[in-house]
Amino acid sequence: MKRITENTVQDFEMKHAKLIKDLAPETTLFLKQNGEFPLATAGKIAAFGKGVRHTIKGGTGSGDVHVRGFETIEESLENAGFTVTSKKWLDSFDIVLKETQDQYYADTRAAAIKAGVNPMIYAFGQTSPDPVYNFELSGEGDTAIYVLSRISGEGSDRRDEKGDIKLSDEEVRDILKLNNQYEHFMLVLNVGGMVDLRPVLEVENILLLGQLGGPTGQVLSDILLGKANPSGKLTMTWTALEDYPSTDGFGDWNDTYYKEGIYVGYRYFDTINKSVLFPFGYGLSYTDFEFKTEKTEVVNDNIKVTASVKNIGQYSGKEVLQLYVSLPSVKLNQPYQTLAAFAKTPELSPEESTEVVLTFKFSDLASFDQEKAAYILEKGDYVLRLGNSSRNTETVAILQLDKTITIRQVKNVAAVVDENFKETKYQVVNRNESFENLPIFSMSSNDINAEVIEYAKKATELVSKGFIHWNDVVSGTHSLEDFVAQFSEEELARIALGHFDEDQTDSSVLGSAAISVAGGAGETSLMFKESHGLPSLAMADGPAGIRISSSYKIINGKIKSTGVSFGDDVVALLGPDLVNEEPSPDEINATEYYQPTTAIPIGTDLAQSFNLPLIESIGNLIAEEMTIYGVHLWLAPALNIMRSPLCGRNFEYYSEDPLVSGLVAAAITKGVQSHPGCGVTLKHYAANNQETNRYTSNSVLSERTLRDIYLRGFEIVVKTANPVSIMSSYNLINGEHINNRRDLMTNVLRDEWQFKGFVMTDWLITTTIMLNPNSKYKQASAAGCVLAGNDMTMPGMQSDLDDILEALHNESHPYHLSKADLQTAALSVLSVVKQLSV
Ligand code: BGC
Repeated sequence: MKRITENTVQDFEMKHAKLIKDLAPETTLFLKQNGEFPLATAGKIAAFGKGVRHTIKGGTGSGDVHVRGFETIEESLENAGFTVTSKKWLDSFDIVLKETQDQYYADTRAAAIKAGVNPMIYAFGQTSPDPVYNFELSGEGDTAIYVLSRISGEGSDRRDEKGDIKLSDEEVRDILKLNNQYEHFMLVLNVGGMVDLRPVLEVENILLLGQLGGPTGQVLSDILLGKANPSGKLTMTWTALEDYPSTDGFGDWNDTYYKEGIYVGYRYFDTINKSVLFPFGYGLSYTDFEFKTEKTEVVNDNIKVTASVKNIGQYSGKEVLQLYVSLPSVKLNQPYQTLAAFAKTPELSPEESTEVVLTFKFSDLASFDQEKAAYILEKGDYVLRLGNSSRNTETVAILQLDKTITIRQVKNVAAVVDENFKETKYQVVNRNESFENLPIFSMSSNDINAEVIEYAKKATELVSKGFIHWNDVVSGTHSLEDFVAQFSEEELARIALGHFDEDQTDSSVLGSAAISVAGGAGETSLMFKESHGLPSLAMADGPAGIRISSSYKIINGKIKSTGVSFGDDVVALLGPDLVNEEPSPDEINATEYYQPTTAIPIGTDLAQSFNLPLIESIGNLIAEEMTIYGVHLWLAPALNIMRSPLCGRNFEYYSEDPLVSGLVAAAITKGVQSHPGCGVTLKHYAANNQETNRYTSNSVLSERTLRDIYLRGFEIVVKTANPVSIMSSYNLINGEHINNRRDLMTNVLRDEWQFKGFVMTDWLITTTIMLNPNSKYKQASAAGCVLAGNDMTMPGMQSDLDDILEALHNESHPYHLSKADLQTAALSVLSVVKQLSV
């Protein structure tokens, strides 16, 4: 770990800023583009909209990263040589914005104090409303942009209202006016998720810039000037909110019914052939491409499609090809098509061609048959389709399977217990497609190996061999089992919790409970450091970079954050008096250390690049910064499925599609974990698709949907990238908190997928400060976690310890524990401690 004493820009910061700036354009895309851009030179530009001066680099909450400084779009345009001619509008807007925000913070703070709740918790994830205004849209020159921005975050869902999913009256009015007023006009979306663009669809240049961390403004300047060409594709369908089947009943306080089943995103829209505004996999750049299937090859279980791509436009650029498969439906219902592979071209100059190869395993197309508790491939025709969006494809070949085969026999998990629940089944709309002249390949069941799962028995108690120091484990003279066997039940209970002091208060651990890294989210137990030499693992949030505080001091041997560890919104809500305590004389005299970090593009944007090596290289960047600051576990990637555009944390997530989610998360995991001492934490496992009442909301869904949609991405990462840890989610699945469900924590994760790391809970599952008395369901149990195979409860609280000890000593505790259960949890945690504390 390095202690940086100078608050000056470090070499690694410059290197990382450049890397992100160079890569970020690949994550952006045009929703519409008519050839009026790029601009020849950086001349006069009239820039309007909140995002010009209040540019959003990422969302709020634990996904927010503290950076040294951040250039707004206005500053970036000026640094790139533009003259911003709309200052009058920007100044007037600032005044009304500040008034509205001040009022909102004052009202919210007062309401929270009245309700006796910490204002930060009271307003978790909420954002200030936008002002009402009507300023003259004046600005010299023939070019204008309107930067529309949105922010959301942990703790609250987005709203189907003007100013959030819908555009505000002011936004619609000004955008349409500017579109008529200026010769060159571009609508720029500085957003983390879908906005309903129907009222402004006549605008012919719409850039989904996204929220790109540090270089957000610079990337926009580069795109305007043609120095960069967007090459991303949507990882979620954008269309009217009322058209998503998940909208009805979304965010119910207690029970959210996943009625649409497997029909999430394009799987739904393509099945019923409903037109959408912008389909999954869609995105335009400054240039155009032509693609053609060249060859299909089948070798046993492996399918390989080679396609040629040609740049037929006037600018250099990259294209993403996607391979979809329409599966036969005999017993199981199937969507019209499912993504099976994708590939991105290298940069192609005008007229240049290349070949790309798209591969997948036939057996990976297996679907879950709930009745048989097995993953199966049904007999029939599998139609391959190649395209550059889910709505622009050509048929490639047919794979014919002559009999239905079982790929994997498992046990049923997470049975639905709610009698009110019923899934809607959709029929594929017949398109009268003709498959004549398509190459046909016969698939033989003999070429596909069925997997046999062995379910592990519960471990028996380990017997102590006396005192063993951690050094003996590291040197190999004693096993981890021997080390664990020496601890008493109470000591083992401490290992099943994050580090905590008996005298800490609840609020002191909110999102920054680490002891060794200032502003880190948590840490494994330090309880046995002195006595047994057992090191701890420090954790820092993600996924938009590493979230630690910007500076700290060491006072009497303890680390104290001195810089930003909260977002501006929180400071405004709490008031400076609650955030900044008076420094002690020791603190005043102590040396200040700095922790500059890099804000990377939000998860959604990274995924939109469809470029796995690029994403892996960003994992490397993250690990370099983890190593500098002594962070062992990055609390990312976050790969929940974008079930609805209303989910407040979608910006942290990757896609509505599990394959994209899984492959992107696997790529960043590989990047991070290729560095010794650095590990990821996949989150939030699983079916955690809303923020409303997130601690005790119940996701009700069928096992097929759970496995084929919501677990699939996690499965891909576990099986291909060996993540060292997983964070379970707060929510319940079919009536029970997932962290208390042994079927999902142990049977699926460890037995079926062979997960070798440890599972931690999300933060503060047993504390009452987060609970709402109006909830139907109770909080989870820390003892229940141990019993289920969720090895550690975070960030570690007295209430968790009490629960575990009670469960050990009281046979009527609903999650009665044995010493062997705690030893199993300790073994999982310590195996990762051993691996990462290098
Ligand atoms: C979030 C997690 C985060 C944790 C620690 C929780 O509130 O849901 O994503 O990693 O806090 O900050």
